[in-house]
Amino acid sequence: MSSNGKAHSGLIGQPVDRVDGVAKVTGAARYAAEFRPQGLAYGVVAQSTIPKGKIQSVDTSAAEKVPGVIAIFTCKNPPLKLTTSAQKEAAKSLSLLQNDAVNYAGQVIGLVVAESLESAQHSASLLKFNYQTAPFETNFARRLKSAEVPADHVEYKRGDVDQALKGAAVKVDQIYSTPTESHNPLEPFATVAQWNGGALTLYETTQGVFQSRRKIAEILGVAPDTVRVISHYLGGGFGCKLALWSHAPLTAMAARKLGRPVKVVLDRQQMYGPVGFRPATNQHIVLGANRAGDLVALRHEGINESAFHQFVESVTEASKMLYACPNVHTNQMIVSLDIGQPTWMRAPGHAPGSFALESALDELAYALTVDPLELRLRNYAQVDSETGLPWSSNSLRECYRIGAERFGWSKRNHAPRSMRDGKLLVGWGMATALHSCWRNLASARVELRADGTALVQSGCHDIGTGTYTIMTQIAAEKLSLPMERVTFELGDTNLPEAPLAGGSTTAGSVGNAVAQACTAALDKLIATAVVDRQSPLSGAKIDDIVAVNGELRIKGSAGKSESYQSLLSRTATGKLQATVQTKFGDEAKNYSMSTFGAQFAEVKIDPDLGVIQVSRFGGTYGAGRILNARTARSQMIGGITFGIGMALMEQTLIDHNLGRIINADFAEYHIPVNSDVANLDVFFVDEQDPHVNSIGVKGIGELGITGVAAAIANAVYHATGKRVRDLPITLDKILV
Ligand code: MOS
Repeated sequence: MSSNGKAHSGLIGQPVDRVDGVAKVTGAARYAAEFRPQGLAYGVVAQSTIPKGKIQSVDTSAAEKVPGVIAIFTCKNPPLKLTTSAQKEAAKSLSLLQNDAVNYAGQVIGLVVAESLESAQHSASLLKFNYQTAPFETNFARRLKSAEVPADHVEYKRGDVDQALKGAAVKVDQIYSTPTESHNPLEPFATVAQWNGGALTLYETTQGVFQSRRKIAEILGVAPDTVRVISHYLGGGFGCKLALWSHAPLTAMAARKLGRPVKVVLDRQQMYGPVGFRPATNQHIVLGANRAGDLVALRHEGINESAFHQFVESVTEASKMLYACPNVHTNQMIVSLDIGQPTWMRAPGHAPGSFALESALDELAYALTVDPLELRLRNYAQVDSETGLPWSSNSLRECYRIGAERFGWSKRNHAPRSMRDGKLLVGWGMATALHSCWRNLASARVELRADGTALVQSGCHDIGTGTYTIMTQIAAEKLSLPMERVTFELGDTNLPEAPLAGGSTTAGSVGNAVAQACTAALDKLIATAVVDRQSPLSGAKIDDIVAVNGELRIKGSAGKSESYQSLLSRTATGKLQATVQTKFGDEAKNYSMSTFGAQFAEVKIDPDLGVIQVSRFGGTYGAGRILNARTARSQMIGGITFGIGMALMEQTLIDHNLGRIINADFAEYHIPVNSDVANLDVFFVDEQDPHVNSIGVKGIGELGITGVAAAIANAVYHATGKRVRDLPITLDKILV
């Protein structure tokens, strides 16, 4: 559906087409790797083949002889030596060729720059690193016993779990584990660095141009305002593009050293290891309940793999607050391994955490012989049970009810192995979806022009989620203009500052800024009109003026109106600008903000082969105001699909004898394809949130994956009677 002919007063929420759709399918949309400044040279990174040790020497003799090679950078010949402690601090989790240390296999240890990609690739393949190897450990399971308390450790306790467990009628005490997972955005990392005198322009694959600028400037030791970072389009990020990884500053350093633009694009194999991954987790959950099914105790201890810089995968967040339970204890530990740096991946914490918690609740439901949905309703938290704060909005009970109805949950027979479709075992499982609703400050600028168009700008991101479209919708509605007359620009540090595209915050936080900037622009226009003698609105009261269909009108006074164009054509510049930086009040002190949902899975399993098909999946969500019914549905479908991969396929595998990732491509790292994703039903309940921000938007990018793996694991149990507590649920685990 196009927005053509639609009343723009009702634009927000409409399933309008992506405004960047044509640019994307015609190739007009330029991604970072597609920028080719004059004189561009091509860089290829070299990676360590050992997991731990030192680089003793580098033999570049063969590599240098490749025609077209311009420079070979290694720790023996870095493009820039970091000197200040601020520079070193900024670079501390990166590999910028500053020393001879190797901390994991796949670490960036060299950069070859050449006149062509082929020359650079060939030369890099001929580089010989002579290592002094050191003992290493990459095996998370083997090191669990040596888990340590992280520096930013938070242990949480309320009530007395041990005491409550003593009196509990029913208990569940189990360990759940999730593997290392890779983000696998379709677009690999790419950096094009171009210096112009002392000014650097970076075309970059990033979920945060402002953060990239800050980090690059710190590392290079230059002023942030000499660096411009541009990221107009992103082919997915899922969290790996929130951080700046080694290749990006190295590209900028090489470009400066060589005095010409340099481009580095990682290949698919290089996307596994040096640019982040979701760390493996091991989660111990103990639940206690009374006979009626009320939770009396919940303990959740999470351990995750970490690397040379500590990373905590916050799996225990939901356990503190999602269910009403008087006695709760959570704790987080880490195991340091000789692996690359873990990072955030779609719904960090919540995705693996919900697998454990929601699986354990299913086990409790079976221990009590109570319906799993009934158990969750029984333990519904009227208020945030960690803080005691009321919810800013919470439609979870409605999600359960509507989701169950749409799925047909009432027809479920509770006993395992009780439902069949011919010879196939049928299983139905469910889980709660939960994601934090964070808010960020953001800024936006609106320019109204005498030609009747509006330019709206904010340095945020469209990581494939539809930001261009939803911001255009918000602006068009708020400005009372057709979408075709509104252009939204993003992804450039020359624009007003916006936060990282992370934590599902862009729609709410930037949308709030855009809405407020539009209101501010119209307020300015109205103020201009009432003092403009030539305007029919001259002398009118400001409060009496409304904006309708590109005109200012006096309420109730028929005929008294003037178009924005006409008003603006009499201004000196022919345009008017308003910039807004958002502020928040005490809302977050008074309300707990989260998004919720109910996930329902149907699996069909071949009892002889163990092959699992997710034949149906239903997700019903409450996430505040939905800005575009189509892009929002796409987000949830994407989240569920991610969850299907998490449940059944995804795992980054390391050969622990070599310490190297062995499935670093799409042939060996399995993600769902169309035939793995059958029938997805997505529904949003109508939820008003008056507290979260001026537009009532809570954000949805990560909610959809939460609970999915548990719903599927619970369905697998229902189908087979086999409880699989370690993801992914591959067929061998069903057959044994
Ligand atoms: Mo998300 S892991 O905050 O991109």
